Amino acid sequence: MPVGPSLRQLHAHQAIHDGGLAGAKSKTEEVAGFYASGDLELAEQATNELLGYWESRILSHADAEEDGFYQEVTEKNPDLQEAVVQLKRDHELMRIVVRSIHQQRETSGWSEAILHKLYALLEINELHSREEERLLF
Ligand SMILES: [Fe+2]
Ligand SMILES: [Fe+2]
Repeated sequence: MPVGPSLRQLHAHQAIHDGGLAGAKSKTEEVAGFYASGDLELAEQATNELLGYWESRILSHADAEEDGFYQEVTEKNPDLQEAVVQLKRDHELMRIVVRSIHQQRETSGWSEAILHKLYALLEINELHSREEERLLF
């Protein structure tokens, strides 16, 4: 797949990371706020919306990278092969956590444990983005 210029340029790529993370953070705070005020139904609805955001904004960015950008980077510099393997594992961890939240909602409904996983996702994502910016540019 052809790689858009925004993935290749550090500043544009960084802006995608920062925009994605800022949106996920504020939506996670919304979930936390509903939980704190005791409204689990709204917390559940906001979680649903947030998972959609993770999928459409952040995991789709990861898919796009694996669909062309990472290959392009390793073709230009084969020494980055190992870094790319590690970055792909970060993506996979985020996909696994998102799936596990979906599963937990379906089987046991909304609980505080879901909020912990949502915070874990933010942390993995931020670490991943900084590593990607450091290693590939
Ligand atoms: Fe990535
Ligand atoms: Fe990225």
